[in-house]
Amino acid sequence: MPVGPLPCLRSLFAIPDDVCYLNTAYMSALLESVRRAGETAVGLKSQPWHVSSEHWFERVERARALFAQLIGASPNDVALAPSASYGIGTAAKNVALTAGQTVVLMQDQFPSAVYPWRRKAAEAGGAVITVPRPADHDWTPPLLDAIDARCRVVSVPACHWSDGALIDLHALSARAREVGAQLVLDLSQSAGATPLDLETIDPDWICAPSYKWLLGPYSAGFLYVAPRHHSGVPLEENWIARAGSEDFSRLVDYIDDYREGARRYDVGERSNFILLPMLIAGLEQLLDWGVERVAETLRRINVNLAAIAARHGLHALSPELRSPHILGLVAPGGFPDDLIPKLAAQSVHVGLRGDTLRVAPHVHVSDSDLQRFDYALGRALA
Ligand SMILES: Cc1ncc(COP(=O)(O)O)c(C=O)c1O
Repeated sequence: MPVGPLPCLRSLFAIPDDVCYLNTAYMSALLESVRRAGETAVGLKSQPWHVSSEHWFERVERARALFAQLIGASPNDVALAPSASYGIGTAAKNVALTAGQTVVLMQDQFPSAVYPWRRKAAEAGGAVITVPRPADHDWTPPLLDAIDARCRVVSVPACHWSDGALIDLHALSARAREVGAQLVLDLSQSAGATPLDLETIDPDWICAPSYKWLLGPYSAGFLYVAPRHHSGVPLEENWIARAGSEDFSRLVDYIDDYREGARRYDVGERSNFILLPMLIAGLEQLLDWGVERVAETLRRINVNLAAIAARHGLHALSPELRSPHILGLVAPGGFPDDLIPKLAAQSVHVGLRGDTLRVAPHVHVSDSDLQRFDYALGRALA
């Protein structure tokens, strides 16, 4: 059943009335609830005698469970990973690649999802195949063509970070499975903003840092690991990921077993007393709204922003080719060099990635933001 949009929820954020913030793809504005959670948590570290097993062990399980719920996974399949590069690095460490085999990527992917594969391919004598940006912006057919019998890994996002161009993960997953390749998803730019059909897509690994669409802090996030990879090798050997680590009196009775499921991949110091409460508060809010409703809300805002941009001569990808939450705008003759500072001077905050003006709203965007965007764009392009 289709879901309706959320109302404008600006009062939940600390965004001044005269600021139009359209740069969630860079980093989200913090919810006030997330900020308060962080502030309270800083207080805890001032009085460490109050730090208890709840802070060491239970909160991390709460965060794991919330993210699992958000993507339709089991908490057992979720590790704490501070960055996309940490997650992809873990995946790369656990994929078997031999000479002549390939890793399929897209042109201009975010570097965190490129460097680990370049190293892996170089060490294995394999190759990274980079699918060029298609003229019609439909990435799926050329990606499918690149996935052949040599392919061992397909490492892609759900939409391109620069302009929101959609990738059909169902089609890619089916093709990857046919040739026996692993599917590694960088959902930095979509987890929390668009629903994921985890069960059908059945990816091998997913990384999702929290500071963008998960509305959380920087240096915190998640790595989903399919159950078939739960006995792999973590990026680091930290003590708290080992079985029995809650018994602080016996930490030097070194033990080879890890905690259950994907927990072996948890980053060291994953019990981060300040970031975890913030991570949890952001996820709780997202789950309360529902990702479908967030996506529908952002889709409608972007339809309005695209119409405004069109009046200024800018083009967006057609709605079937773009993700609902990120709007990539191009100017036929290119943008002036000083576009971003000019817009920022009028308190309109967007990003420029390559030749694309990247607009990424969230539920705080109001009608007056739309008017400000319209006016500021007109002046900056004049
Ligand atoms: C697609 C994508 N992946 C990853 C990241 C961030 O990577 P990391 O968490 O390794 O800093 C970004 C940041 O803009 C991104 O757009």
